[in-house]
Amino acid sequence: MRADRRGAGRYRRAVVAVVSFALTTAACRASGPGLRGPDVPYVTTPQAVGDEMLTLAAVTASDTVYDLGSGDGRLVIAAARDFGARGVGVEIDPKLIQQSRENAQRAGVAARTEFVWEDLFKVSVAPASVVTLYLLQELNLKLRPRLLAELAPGARVVSHNFHMGEWAPDRTRRVRAPDGFHSVYLWVIPADAGGAWTLTSGERAWTLTLRQRYQDLEGELVTGDGRRPVTGRVAGRDVELTADAPGPATLRLHGRLDGDTARGTIEAGVPEAPAPWSARRGG
Ligand SMILES: C[S@@+](CC[C@H](N)C(=O)[O-])C[C@H]1O[C@@H](n2cnc3c(N)ncnc32)[C@H](O)[C@@H]1O
Repeated sequence: MRADRRGAGRYRRAVVAVVSFALTTAACRASGPGLRGPDVPYVTTPQAVGDEMLTLAAVTASDTVYDLGSGDGRLVIAAARDFGARGVGVEIDPKLIQQSRENAQRAGVAARTEFVWEDLFKVSVAPASVVTLYLLQELNLKLRPRLLAELAPGARVVSHNFHMGEWAPDRTRRVRAPDGFHSVYLWVIPADAGGAWTLTSGERAWTLTLRQRYQDLEGELVTGDGRRPVTGRVAGRDVELTADAPGPATLRLHGRLDGDTARGTIEAGVPEAPAPWSARRGG
């Protein structure tokens, strides 16, 4: 824990140094055509932490992994070399871009990696299925609306040491590295589940109203015998809802969202087989 704080302190001091440097050289800073100076300094993710980030994000050969602020390319290269993924690094420092390309060549993954000399705030992340970050909390917060808007439901975001504010992580890991403990946070982009749904199961037709805050859902299910408060969660396109009622009448719904339709199974908390349900949003 103390080592973790020492590591965070070193990182913060390095940030202060970069910000003062950026302020004092504002007039002449120009990393490249139209590019600003870095928002955070170059500090590398230890290998054990990088491995855990990619493992926690369950990276496979079908993923496209973007590292925003990719430094020497180590996360992008590990994603391609160790997990078979395609990797894209976005980095504002052209020397690090050059070094990343050389490192990828040496690692034999140049064909599956790309390093883009660009401001990470100007690059679309839509093609990514996994985004890795080692920035700062305030930069994560600035990126948050774009990650939620551009990434497809089910895409994963992993951040080394820095949080996303009120968007709570789906999973957290602590990793021991030579300089102490580090935190790794995982978020899964939730599908949009909010709104009014008409839900049918056999002969029954119910109204389900959901309000969504990141992965969390709450609302109401109106059935023939009354109104039940609903709570639930979305993980990618998978949805789980509990419609409370006293005793064994609690309803549990599991399902999968697909735009304005959804389907799954419903359990009534009594020993009867789960029944299928389907739902349509709006009109
Ligand atoms: C803390 S380092 C992380 C490097 C690498 N992702 C890792 O985990 O080892 C942050 C990197 O972001 C880059 N960076 C800072 N601001 C940036 C920006 N606006 N656009 C692109 N890269 C940026 C820095 O040059 C630095 O290499």
